[in-house]
Amino acid sequence: MAEKPRAPPRPSGALPYSPLMLSALWPGYSRTGLLAGWLLALLYVTHAGLTATLARTDRALPLREELRGWHYVVGTLLFATALVRLLAWLRERPRPPAGLPASAFAWGRALAFVALLLMLFAPLLGLLYAWADGLAVRLGPVTLPALVERDRALWQATGYFHSGLGFMLVVLNLATLLTAACTSLRFRHGLLSAFPPGHGAFAFLGFSSTVHAFATFRSPEPGPVAVAVFWALVAAWALAAWVLHRNRAPVPRSRIVSPVARAVSALGAVLLLGLGALGPYGMFRVTPFAAPADVAAEGGVEWHSRPAVIPAALPPPDAFERQVEAETFKWCRFCHNMQPGGDQHKVGPNLYNILGQRAGTVPGFGYSEAMRAARARGLVWTDETLAAYIADPQGFLPGTSMIVSSGPIPDPKVQEAVVNLLKRATAPRD
Ligand code: HEC
Repeated sequence: MAEKPRAPPRPSGALPYSPLMLSALWPGYSRTGLLAGWLLALLYVTHAGLTATLARTDRALPLREELRGWHYVVGTLLFATALVRLLAWLRERPRPPAGLPASAFAWGRALAFVALLLMLFAPLLGLLYAWADGLAVRLGPVTLPALVERDRALWQATGYFHSGLGFMLVVLNLATLLTAACTSLRFRHGLLSAFPPGHGAFAFLGFSSTVHAFATFRSPEPGPVAVAVFWALVAAWALAAWVLHRNRAPVPRSRIVSPVARAVSALGAVLLLGLGALGPYGMFRVTPFAAPADVAAEGGVEWHSRPAVIPAALPPPDAFERQVEAETFKWCRFCHNMQPGGDQHKVGPNLYNILGQRAGTVPGFGYSEAMRAARARGLVWTDETLAAYIADPQGFLPGTSMIVSSGPIPDPKVQEAVVNLLKRATAPRD
């Protein structure tokens, strides 16, 4: 990052910014490519921050709708900028900067190019995902006309890959950072000049936001510390690279990028995408393809067939319950709708009036084999069974497709608070 080439040769690059030595850092890149590359980095980190906040904001709050609107606006700007960057990319004939081997240059470009393609696909998938969920897509005052109908299978597939692309970017960013760590120490080209303009910043800012997002799953406090630790690590390596190369001239290397280096780099980047594509499964146990939905529960058991068991008047949440709501229960809402409307399922089934009902009997939801078996055994959701399920979903029902995103809930006090919150959120309203 901090390394500055000393007295670099000035090839006749397309960039006129010689005082900043940009043409030495990025020989052969165009001005449009440079500006769009840096703009992408800024838009991407804004978008990543918005998306993480959106996921952490309770579906019941109006702020969530506002964040969703901004998510679309910034996503659209990303798409437009990526398109401009792609068009510039196709016209550029860049060369490796002095001292960077052609193979490392090809690898850096492959990482950046694949990230660019994801910026183009993700917004399109996001649009389909919203429409398939029956959500309006508003860009400020304009509402885009929906091109597809509400459709659960499409919602699940596009949702999986829309969030899968986010995970792919995380993997690509990590690969970019690790590459930069190596190339800065060996060849003194790091996050800035080992990659096309802006891509190092893209990975650095994007990964900072990922670190923040992972640290704040439950509460916001650990976020800044985690980011500070990450930045300290990056600063330490940048300093090491600077000390190492302070008084050395760049070593001349071949600057001809061979087709083999290109092909191997492209293959490597695609493999990283495959790794990222597993992310939504690893984190939320979702798959791109919905399990066949149960049309009706067998044995005469139907949703709402049992009278409500929740007392009519529940006391308002106390301070501890409000804390559990902010840290844990928001993740229940992330996967479950809780208001009337039997078919409005998300990743998990609609939980309206779930207390006292037999397990696995919400119509129109594709349950796991484990939950179907529990239904056949006659499992009923009570304070005790719910507490045991959220304490350890896999332990209670081996093979269930549910995981609690904020982690299992072993503390009986928290279990009780979640069950109380669930009762309030899902109590029948008539
Ligand atoms: C990552 C998504 C996800 C999260 C987070 C999540 N669930 Fe679930 N939940 C599911 C899925 C998927 C199922 C269906 C499980 C199956 O078929 O095995 C389910 C099933 C259930 C059921 C059984 C419903 C039925 O019809 O029998 C209950 C109750 C439940 N979840 C409560 C909760 C609570 C309470 C929380 C928060 C602590 C929570 N869930 C968090 C995805 C999630």
